[in-house]
Amino acid sequence: MDIITSHFSIALTFFILLLSSLPSPLFSNRCHPDDYKALIKIKKSLNNPRFLDFWDHNTDCCNWTVAEFYNICDEKTNRVRHFELSDRALSSQIPSAIGDLPYLENIIFRNLTNITGSIPKSITKLKHLTLLWLSSLELSGPIPQFLSKLITLVYLNLSDNKFSGSIPPSLSKLKNLGPLYLERNRLTGSIPESFGHFNGITPPQLYLSHNQLDGSIPKSLGDMNFLRIDLSRNKLVGDASMLFNPDMSTYEIDISWNLFDFDLSTVKFQRGLDILDLSHNRIRGSIPKQLGEQVFPMYLFNVSYNRLCGEIPTQSNTRSGFDKSAYVHNRCLCGPLLKAKCK
Ligand SMILES: *[C@@H]1O[C@H](CO)[C@@H](O)[C@H](O)[C@H]1NC(C)=O
Ligand SMILES: *[C@@H]1O[C@H](CO)[C@@H](O)[C@H](O)[C@H]1NC(C)=O
Ligand SMILES: *[C@@H]1O[C@H](CO)[C@@H](O)[C@H](O)[C@H]1NC(C)=O
Ligand SMILES: *[C@@H]1O[C@H](CO)[C@@H](O)[C@H](O)[C@H]1NC(C)=O
Ligand SMILES: *[C@@H]1O[C@H](CO)[C@@H](O)[C@H](O)[C@H]1NC(C)=O
Repeated sequence: MDIITSHFSIALTFFILLLSSLPSPLFSNRCHPDDYKALIKIKKSLNNPRFLDFWDHNTDCCNWTVAEFYNICDEKTNRVRHFELSDRALSSQIPSAIGDLPYLENIIFRNLTNITGSIPKSITKLKHLTLLWLSSLELSGPIPQFLSKLITLVYLNLSDNKFSGSIPPSLSKLKNLGPLYLERNRLTGSIPESFGHFNGITPPQLYLSHNQLDGSIPKSLGDMNFLRIDLSRNKLVGDASMLFNPDMSTYEIDISWNLFDFDLSTVKFQRGLDILDLSHNRIRGSIPKQLGEQVFPMYLFNVSYNRLCGEIPTQSNTRSGFDKSAYVHNRCLCGPLLKAKCK
């Protein structure tokens, strides 16, 4: 070996050593260093769980996926746009370093055994966030006001947590929001008046079931063309007739298991209504004849456990013919289905 090749091989060895000692490989690494830092911080606040062992400097952080998504980065910019953790056992809070991934569009923390605390305020730094799905965790405390600052949000799902207190009226400022899922929490107080003024581009969908909401529902809800509205299993009282309007395109209304008390006789249903569950309330009057005149047969119709009277309209136009259980336990409903002659 002459002196030049020997020098060369020493230099090469040194170069290889240098390369392998750098914190991240220089070849085919799409990961942005700032995103790398943030993800390592996130891993640390999750107490370095074993299933994230592969999040190290030998792999491209754009490959650090633990769900179906192969690539958590944007194809063009290589910035991290997707974060998902689900179906794991994890004890921690939602890492506030999530706010240090400035190009995030989707955040999903779902069905993790022991994620407690609240939502970190740092997410308000995320200017591209469209989907926030934090469900089946143990999040508690009030739903933070600052969520109304996430104006790019299209989808918000906080269902199946332990959120308490009242619903922030400012959520109606989320002008791009379609579905709002707050069901299965411990929310109290009444439905904000502002929920009749979502002035977004998409028709809103409101899911508030399985909470402890009370009071009467605001008249303003009648001005809103909800696609779907589910208020079931709360303690809501009074009138809900404003939810019915033949000019609206709502196809699902579920107000079952509440304390609603109003006269159904004069109500006019949405013509495309497909699911209507009024069961377990204190609804009076009779079933509107219009029921037999729907455009499409309803998929589900249920008025059981109320205080209705009068004849059950003909069911020629129903998908499977309504079953008797949809009418039982009323004051004086009548018709062949209930084997009760109308007088
Ligand atoms: C990780 O990313 C590199 C490109 O940086 C790619 O070639 C490789 O196939 C990826 N690995 C996996 C397991 O997806
Ligand atoms: C939730 O995650 C656990 C593992 O932690 C899994 O066994 C269970 O099937 C998941 N539940 C749902 C509804 O996906
Ligand atoms: C959940 O986290 C709390 C606080 O960190 C801890 O005391 C508790 O043991 C954890 N429970 C489970 C099931 O991991
Ligand atoms: C909201 O989250 C819950 C719990 O993970 C899930 O069951 C529900 O389907 C979600 N809503 C939608 C339509 O994504
Ligand atoms: C109607 O609701 C009652 C009470 O919630 C339920 O027991 C019954 O199965 C329902 N029937 C139909 C046809 O939906």
